[in-house]
Amino acid sequence: MTDQIDTTRRNLLTSGIAGAAAAGASLAAATGALAQTTPFGTLEGKVALITGAARGIGRSIAEEYARHGASIVMLDVADPSVVPPVEGFRIANSEEFDAAFEAVRAINPNTLQIRGDVRSEGDLDGAMSQAISRFGGLDIAVANAGYVRWHGFADGRELDWKSVLDVNVWGVANTFRAATPALRQRGGGRLISISSIGGRQGVPGNGAYTSSKWAVIGLTKQAAIELGPDNITVNAIAPGPVDTPMYRSEAQIASMGLSTAAEQDAALNPMLPVGDRPALAPVDIANTAVFLAGDAGASISGVSLDVALGYNAFYTS
Ligand SMILES: NC(=O)c1ccc[n+]([C@@H]2O[C@H](COP(=O)([O-])OP(=O)(O)OC[C@H]3O[C@@H](n4cnc5c(N)ncnc54)[C@H](O)[C@@H]3O)[C@@H](O)[C@H]2O)c1
Repeated sequence: MTDQIDTTRRNLLTSGIAGAAAAGASLAAATGALAQTTPFGTLEGKVALITGAARGIGRSIAEEYARHGASIVMLDVADPSVVPPVEGFRIANSEEFDAAFEAVRAINPNTLQIRGDVRSEGDLDGAMSQAISRFGGLDIAVANAGYVRWHGFADGRELDWKSVLDVNVWGVANTFRAATPALRQRGGGRLISISSIGGRQGVPGNGAYTSSKWAVIGLTKQAAIELGPDNITVNAIAPGPVDTPMYRSEAQIASMGLSTAAEQDAALNPMLPVGDRPALAPVDIANTAVFLAGDAGASISGVSLDVALGYNAFYTS
């Protein structure tokens, strides 16, 4: 038995989680206890819906959930013409969505692609129906889709505020609303929203986006209280800068008073205490979403989890 435990420890150190999972599984049969050395567990048998899945963080969450064995429902509007244009930024297009779908399907063939707008009740209700008819139910919904228009506070107009709040706040509430009956039917589940470090502090020049991300945390906490008795956990992830088309867009870089991604990295690096990384990768956020969706996250609800390479240490209590 000691040899087996040493093997597990060695695997944890050398092969990471996958190696530990294999060793933990063989030990679990013998002890029933050391299976807990697999921190992320598995999502085998679970069905997960991810909005804004055509690229960036949403695509990465779909990939990691698929790798952990979940059946995947990828939803994205994938049509830049449905939101007001922003100079230097566009939301995903159809080709990006098709490429993401193929990538996730290559990991797990149990993957469904749905073109839908998170602002539409009919689109979200229809997505739930499709998920149930294809996979038999829903266990996890990640409200990730987001949109941004950069403007100074005094310059924000009705179009800026309403269009951003519509996608980032109503879109999240609508996703949670539509998913709740399906989760209740399964006897519980997980709802996850994607806020931002912009939802934890004021961010000059970030326009209505900052308010929208604060609102995401508020509605997440409200839902956590109301849905807890149904065995549904509800949590927000608040990412720092993540290397995605949104963060690397010309408009985002210009809003920081900069002109290139290299300048963006140089400006942010000193503000991110962990290691020597100028930005997070989408998979950093996806790993957190796996944690919250898996067994290890079962008793966590109503939190906003900063995933920001320590940047949050500057402003959180
Ligand atoms: N990249 C960052 O640095 C960062 C930091 C903090 C939070 N976030 C948040 O993470 C989430 C994902 O951002 P990202 O960086 O991957 O951005 P992204 O623009 O690369 O991806 C967002 C996705 O949402 C989709 N989308 C937009 N409007 C939609 C709608 N109405 N209906 C359905 N889909 C829609 C887009 O087509 C796109 O595929 C967003 O909520 C964003 O605000 C990003």
